[in-house]
Amino acid sequence: MGLRAKFNLLMLAVAVIGVGLFALAADPLVDAVARQEVLQSSRIMMESAAGARKYTSEQIAPILKPQIGEHFYPQSVSAYAAKRNFDVIHSKFPDYMYREAALNPTNPQDRASDWEADIINGFRAHPEQSEMSLERQTATGPMLELARPLVNKPACMECHDTAADAPKSMLALYGSENGFGWKPGEIIGAQIVSVPMSASTVRAEQIRKLFLVPFLGFLVLLFVSMNVLLHFVVIRPMEKIAENAEAVSMGKMDTPEYQYRGRDQIGRLAGSFNRMQRSLVEAFRMLG
Ligand code: HEC
Repeated sequence: MGLRAKFNLLMLAVAVIGVGLFALAADPLVDAVARQEVLQSSRIMMESAAGARKYTSEQIAPILKPQIGEHFYPQSVSAYAAKRNFDVIHSKFPDYMYREAALNPTNPQDRASDWEADIINGFRAHPEQSEMSLERQTATGPMLELARPLVNKPACMECHDTAADAPKSMLALYGSENGFGWKPGEIIGAQIVSVPMSASTVRAEQIRKLFLVPFLGFLVLLFVSMNVLLHFVVIRPMEKIAENAEAVSMGKMDTPEYQYRGRDQIGRLAGSFNRMQRSLVEAFRMLG
């Protein structure tokens, strides 16, 4: 095997190991960054829901309140507003979901499923926790769930305390069975944003490419420049010296000396070979 082949084989092995080590070291980091980004976009959605809630309770509810005696407008309810607001996002991104899950909901559609109830009970067990995120396997793939607790405040008691105290117009719409008896300060439910983890996988792939493409580019550059260096600094001068050595050893004493510019090891070899050739020529001349 020639020098070039040995050298390139070594470079290839180093490159393969390098890329492998890089992937090994970077993969968990890339996944974490991608997951963090997905979490961040869920947080923004959560804030948008919180915004719809706040806007409704501060600006819409006071306007519609005087009408509550005759007609109940669900539009004045924060939970309703947040859900309708998210419907717009859901229509554009069908995999993204928002829930106002409660253990004892006014609207049966909001009844917490098993895993949602686990989240609510988790918040009840840790009231100091203001946010929770978890990954969940679903039929459509893994989902990232971001949840925040919903606490029953004094202002909520007007409608969620007892059915007897709730507005009659509300009972006419929702009945008197559900969504009552919430205790003061109790965590009654959770806001839950669901984002498909596939978004994170796609993002991880993009980040990986972002790192890998310049890295591979660097390897190619290194490969080409090392080969050029090897060719001009080692292989070609060595071939010249070898050719001269072969010629002189075959008796061609008039072979022109190889002039190598450079003070490196090859230069030393070329210089000493030329001296040897001169001594040989001199010796032959004296013999002859
Ligand atoms: C004016 C009456 C009223 C007030 C005040 C009120 N709610 Fe509600 N709430 C409702 C109605 C009606 C629904 C059902 C809305 C729907 O159909 O989506 C509801 C729904 C909810 C839901 C979704 C789960 C469910 O029960 O269907 C949560 C969570 C909720 N309310 C929490 C609160 C909190 C927390 C407060 C106080 C900050 C509050 N509500 C104040 C009337 C009220």
